[in-house]
Amino acid sequence: MSADSPRQKRLHVITWGCQMNVYDSGRMADVLAPLGYAPARLPEDADMVILNTCHIRDKAAEKVFSELGRLRRLKERRAAEGGRMILAVAGCVAQAEGAEILARAPFVDIVLGPQTYHRLPEMVARAARSADAVIETDFPAEDKFDFLPDSAGPQGVTAFLTIQEGCDRFCSFCVVPYTRGAETSRPAVAVIAEARRLVEQGAREITLLGQNVNAWHGEAPDGGAWGLGRLLRQLADLPGLLRLRYTTSHPRDLDDALIAAHRDLPMLMPFLHLPVQSGSDRMLAAMNRRHTAADYLRLVEKLRAARPDLALSSDFIVGHPGETEANFQATLALVREVGFAQAFSFKYSPRPGTPAAGAPAQVADDEKEQRLAELQALLREQQAGFNAGCVGRTLPVLFTGPGRHQGQVAGRSPFLQPVHVSGPADLCGREIPVEIAAALPNSLSGTLTEERARA
Ligand code: SAH
Ligand code: SF4
Ligand code: F3S
Repeated sequence: MSADSPRQKRLHVITWGCQMNVYDSGRMADVLAPLGYAPARLPEDADMVILNTCHIRDKAAEKVFSELGRLRRLKERRAAEGGRMILAVAGCVAQAEGAEILARAPFVDIVLGPQTYHRLPEMVARAARSADAVIETDFPAEDKFDFLPDSAGPQGVTAFLTIQEGCDRFCSFCVVPYTRGAETSRPAVAVIAEARRLVEQGAREITLLGQNVNAWHGEAPDGGAWGLGRLLRQLADLPGLLRLRYTTSHPRDLDDALIAAHRDLPMLMPFLHLPVQSGSDRMLAAMNRRHTAADYLRLVEKLRAARPDLALSSDFIVGHPGETEANFQATLALVREVGFAQAFSFKYSPRPGTPAAGAPAQVADDEKEQRLAELQALLREQQAGFNAGCVGRTLPVLFTGPGRHQGQVAGRSPFLQPVHVSGPADLCGREIPVEIAAALPNSLSGTLTEERARA
């Protein structure tokens, strides 16, 4: 190591929440790399630990405080040995509850929101100089993306790329507009440059990210404006890139240009996560979703007309304030009508500061529990049916890494199902046809087509 290169230090990041947090954790590591921080596998070995947190449901936020209790002991042990561990809380809990974190866990050194992490080097320097905690949870005037380094650690065969931040939709139940701030779109040129770098580092599939990604309306290279459909067309031309996806979408912002992209771009994978939350128009109105169940069904019809093999995924909330048994039955009816390949479903969790939290007619917990069980049984059945329907088909699989067992490789189908086959590790990064032999509840297994196995 040369005299002026920074001392080697170790960073451990723990990530909860959505894919955007996964992306952010990678970028925080990129920002800290020039300071000499290399990844540590365990918090025990780290000079700095970042908790990148999620505030979406109550349980997600509580996890942070129990993890902080564990880290406090590590930090104390390090101090007893004459060293120092810097502890930072980042992400959406930090944004929403910064002051409370410092009150409940005064041993935390840095609290930073999702829009300020480009300032981490300065925060680390301040924390190192002083015993007082550093807190940065204002929404800054500058855009963090303008300050993040171009150089980034490789993400692997499948990579995330955040193109849109924040949300202006203000669904009644949701903290995101408060924790992530107002909706903004990155310019197309910046997105394309980052996608190119990811491909150079080995990415073959890129998932464009945003809390409301299909609301993306970024500056076009010629100074005009593009929508997501146009951006996807541009990215589809990147040499070396095999697959594109985007998540998460709001039904209200899914326009015809985006549907046409599904029709025209084979590399835009036939799997779409399109949260509907409820099948009841009364609930959808209470949730401020600004679409009806019929609007959603019409969209699904249009999407399937454009891309007949499209598989759908969704998010559901049961027990939103005011939800009656009849409203819940409308959700089951919508699920039966659409047929989902996969879905996430949650009990409504009141979040401080959101309109629904203060609404009368909160639904009793045992009622929520019962509805969730019923909905999940139906969704599991549909997922199993969808997976079983893949058996006997030959699907292109993009291989991403070693499988669970010796001699296995794992990858993803077009429908995002994990697929395992027996085969050599050097298949990673390649998209190869696989004969699907069996379906498990959450994955598929198959064999390489004979021709490939011989090659
Ligand atoms: N931007 C995405 C969703 C972000 S949060 C969208 O608009 O669809 C991911 C999912 O968490 C939501 O779709 C919703 O189903 C669930 N969720 C959000 N707030 C919740 C709450 N207060 N209680 C329970 N589930 C919630
Ligand atoms: Fe939350 Fe609604 Fe925005 Fe999604 S669209 S992030 S659910 S406010
Ligand atoms: Fe959670 Fe924040 Fe993502 S609340 S879901 S980490 S935007």
